[in-house]
Amino acid sequence: MNTEISDVRAMEILDSRGNPTVRVFVELADGTRAVSSVPSGASTGENEAVELRDGDKSRYLGLGVLKAVDNVNKNIAPAIKGIDASDQWRLDAHLRELDGTENKGNLGANAILGVSMAVARASAQSFGIPLYRYLGGSNARRLPVPSMNILNGGAHADNSVDIQEFMAVPVGAPNFREGLRYISETFHHLKKILKEKGLATSVGDEGGFAPNLPSNDAAMDLIMDAIEAAGYTPGEDIAFSLDSAASSFSTDLTSKYDLKKSGAGKMDSAGLVALGEKWVKKYPIVSWEDPLAENDWAGFTDFTARLGDKIDVIGDDLFVTNTKYIKRGIKEKAANSVLIKLNQIGTVSESIDAVRLCRDAGWRYMISHRSGETEDTFIADFAVAMDGGQLKTGSASRSERIAKYNRLMEIEQELGEGAQYYW
Ligand code: PGA
Ligand code: ZN
Repeated sequence: MNTEISDVRAMEILDSRGNPTVRVFVELADGTRAVSSVPSGASTGENEAVELRDGDKSRYLGLGVLKAVDNVNKNIAPAIKGIDASDQWRLDAHLRELDGTENKGNLGANAILGVSMAVARASAQSFGIPLYRYLGGSNARRLPVPSMNILNGGAHADNSVDIQEFMAVPVGAPNFREGLRYISETFHHLKKILKEKGLATSVGDEGGFAPNLPSNDAAMDLIMDAIEAAGYTPGEDIAFSLDSAASSFSTDLTSKYDLKKSGAGKMDSAGLVALGEKWVKKYPIVSWEDPLAENDWAGFTDFTARLGDKIDVIGDDLFVTNTKYIKRGIKEKAANSVLIKLNQIGTVSESIDAVRLCRDAGWRYMISHRSGETEDTFIADFAVAMDGGQLKTGSASRSERIAKYNRLMEIEQELGEGAQYYW
């Protein structure tokens, strides 16, 4: 075993939307080879690390990533050859230094994260241990509770629903495999119900349905029906998780909102918080991501004060997996949970730092895919390494989503009796 990095190469591949993204190959001195592919968001937070795109309109409508690929091949590769791949923190610090900006805008977070993930995977392989154990230690054995995105609205769908994602959470399942079965069956029953009602059953980027529904309530009523049709009890076996992605219906990214799609109309933060309280009473909601816009810190604090003892209030665009913003959130009690997306911050060790900060504050966290994904299953292992928590990785359709679920079932099987699962 020799974990010195001996070769690093990148290439341009396509993500699940058919847009270019970065794939990185790493080789160690002992011959170990590993590969990783970087995901890409659509409803991105304004403070996310920079995803470097070529902007050359003659290729992929300007979305090419040849510059990021070049940065890996010409700048990063020569600078990290000889570094010990098992020293993840030092590698990531070196990558940050090489970039020299706070938002990784120089080399690109897509270039940097590809290298960071591939190096972690190569090192795990060289040690002969699975990635989740390499990153999480010998006692990493808790599976995450999945939040399955089964119905879409907001910017992700052409309907009268403001909320971007409605997710089913198997809170009452005995293990991951059974939990996945609960929510997959709910997804299939939802399809049946939609068909019977003459509604569309085509799926969006994350694999959820996006039928033409009249309101947010109608979407949640349908999910209640699907849970019951599948033979489960809402709230007991399966609960709801929502992602409002509220920046998308905020008119100034702070406190003014216009729920145009449903026709609920204009309201301020207080109005939106009151609506949230009403829905939490009416539906079995256990977690709610970005209920307010990304700069509406006061609104988040108000929402958390009213609902934080009942549900997980998760910041996605608010925190962008960045400890700087999470620290502010802890101070201002702006949430009680954080969405963790590795490409929002750009390295494996900074993502781990974000999770650690959550744990120290008694907060929870949800590891997340992006709406543009690849077949890379890194986040499945990452979730187990981070001691479970929760995970959102799309619906029971589209192979780039299923790949992560399948990897988690594999991990659970490998852990055998040691595997843990609880809400
Ligand atoms: P994104 O969407 O990957 O397009 O940012 C997912 C989310 O908002 O959580
Ligand atoms: Zn989100």
